Amino acid sequence: MAIENVLRGAVLLLALASCRGWPDHDDNTIESRLATWLLNHPGAELNGMAVGRECPTCLRGIVATKDFAYEDVIGRFPLVAMQIFPGTDKFSAEHALVWLDRMHNDPTFNASWHLFWEAHPDRDGVFAPDLYTDQQIEMLQTPELEALVLGHRTLAEQVFNGTYGEGKPVPELLPAVDMATFKHVAALIHSRSFGVSPEGSNTTQSALIPIMDLLNHDDEPNTRWYTDHEALVLTALHTIKAGEALTHNYITGVIHRPDMSMFFFGFVTQREEPFLAASDLPGYDADNPYATSPLDDSIYDDPYGEHCTTEEYERLSARLEDMPTSEEQDQHVLDSGMVTDWRLQTILQYRIARKRALRHTLEKIAGHLGGLGREDVVNAGGEQAGQHEAAGGFTSGDDGGSGEL
Ligand SMILES: *[C@@H]1O[C@H](CO)[C@@H](O)[C@H](O)[C@H]1NC(C)=O
Ligand SMILES: *[C@@H]1O[C@H](CO)[C@@H](O)[C@H](O)[C@H]1NC(C)=O
Ligand SMILES: *[C@@H]1O[C@H](CO)[C@@H](O)[C@H](O)[C@H]1NC(C)=O
Repeated sequence: MAIENVLRGAVLLLALASCRGWPDHDDNTIESRLATWLLNHPGAELNGMAVGRECPTCLRGIVATKDFAYEDVIGRFPLVAMQIFPGTDKFSAEHALVWLDRMHNDPTFNASWHLFWEAHPDRDGVFAPDLYTDQQIEMLQTPELEALVLGHRTLAEQVFNGTYGEGKPVPELLPAVDMATFKHVAALIHSRSFGVSPEGSNTTQSALIPIMDLLNHDDEPNTRWYTDHEALVLTALHTIKAGEALTHNYITGVIHRPDMSMFFFGFVTQREEPFLAASDLPGYDADNPYATSPLDDSIYDDPYGEHCTTEEYERLSARLEDMPTSEEQDQHVLDSGMVTDWRLQTILQYRIARKRALRHTLEKIAGHLGGLGREDVVNAGGEQAGQHEAAGGFTSGDDGGSGEL
């Protein structure tokens, strides 16, 4: 917690210090130095942005330092100023090996990328599957998500141990890298890389893009980006005023689902009406968990639709009942201030969002079925709330620090 507060305080200062925009040679922050590094690449442009804090809970983000009109170019990030990982369909742990190998064995690469490396959040500043503890996995209360996270973590360990594919154990290749460092790097790559597909290429590859990766996500972003032959180009999606946070949509179609935003990026989008978790959707496919899906409205809004049925009501109801704590209990724990670790707070926010979405969907289906004369189901819906008595689940372990939940 102390670290977080220090970080947040520092970010506030940064925001005040750097409102003049980049390049700003009086500003010696790591982000400003990164911006200078980026601008040394031919074709790079940053046309009016600086690091800033956009909301009370964000560690940092990027703010506009001038007004932009629709389609104005805000930044150009040359492909040569990215770390594009070879191969498609590879895991972040495999990318981590490539990255660490270059950092350790290619002094020119290290000299060029060292600043970006130093600007990375430390292990306490990143929340990605490779770094989950057993307790955090158990707290998810979602077997599908637990399996995804565990699979990811195990894979990182296998790559490290040399038991995945034909690799050698990392300690043989890079004696200075231990398992914890390795997982940290894999987690950073998992949560910060972009899928880029330069014009003329027919594949999408993972890439680290300094500066660009400081933009925060918004479901309704004010920027968009595309790649041409040489660069990723960031443009205004509509008019932007100086001082506004610049945001983009990390992965359209998946990220708005609470389990997916937490899995990929370690945050849960806060919405009045959360979307269902991907794992709760009809037809969730564990082999293709990130498949984009229609919005919940188009699944459940039609009273005569294929999913407005008693069976679907019972399926979702059973999922809600299977969880060891209720939405109210999770909210209570979150509000009580007992949980100070931001990762555990995120898991609680996830659980609340997921349960709320299930409850809203059940209410919607019950309403439709009631309208169709299925009173039995409507009544069953009324019994849903308040069924949980003990505040189980959360009491099972410590939070990795304060230990008295
Ligand atoms: C990269 O270079 C920096 C100095 O610029 C050095 O401190 C660091 O140890 C090097 N990193 C690796 C992984 O070799
Ligand atoms: C990796 O190796 C360590 C130490 O030998 C072992 O404890 C761990 O279970 C291994 N992990 C995997 C996923 O094989
Ligand atoms: C993609 O590009 C590669 C090499 O440029 C080519 O061999 C392959 O056929 C292309 N695939 C498609 C689906 O266009």
